[in-house]
Amino acid sequence: MKNLFLFAAVLLLISGCTNNSVEPEIITEDVSYSAEIQPIFTNSCNSCHSAGQNNFNSSSYQAVMASTSPNYGGPHVVPGNADGSPLVDKIEPNPQHNDRMPTTGPLSQNQIAKIRAWIDQGAEDN
Ligand code: HEC
Repeated sequence: MKNLFLFAAVLLLISGCTNNSVEPEIITEDVSYSAEIQPIFTNSCNSCHSAGQNNFNSSSYQAVMASTSPNYGGPHVVPGNADGSPLVDKIEPNPQHNDRMPTTGPLSQNQIAKIRAWIDQGAEDN
């Protein structure tokens, strides 16, 4: 039983790695969480996620980093690994679980690229 579960988890992981249809823009400069990322969350996510409702808390750096997903089975942000972060999966087309975020209409390609770059650069509180 335990082995079956592990097998399913590995399959999920593998399929997650190949599920990247969006080519991110190349961002080489350092992305600032406070100047560039929190404003995206505040404007586009806080209306539904400011207090941790709907399985995610977008209200602050600490809250974002502490958010974990019951569906993906781990933290929403995996520092250094945008491809492996459920947060990125949820803002790109065809997420593995439920709807693309924000449900009110997608972020711009540039906003998605910034979030990806911030995570790949270590998801720092900068
Ligand atoms: C109009 C309401 C609304 C807005 C705005 C919104 N969300 Fe959501 N979000 C939801 C709902 C409802 C769910 C639960 C269902 C689902 O996962 O599709 C959810 C779930 C999530 C989850 C948890 C998924 C999981 O399975 O753990 C993440 C992460 C997320 N949203 C990120 C975002 C981000 C990032 C933004 C802004 C860019 C955003 N959401 C904007 C309504 C919203």
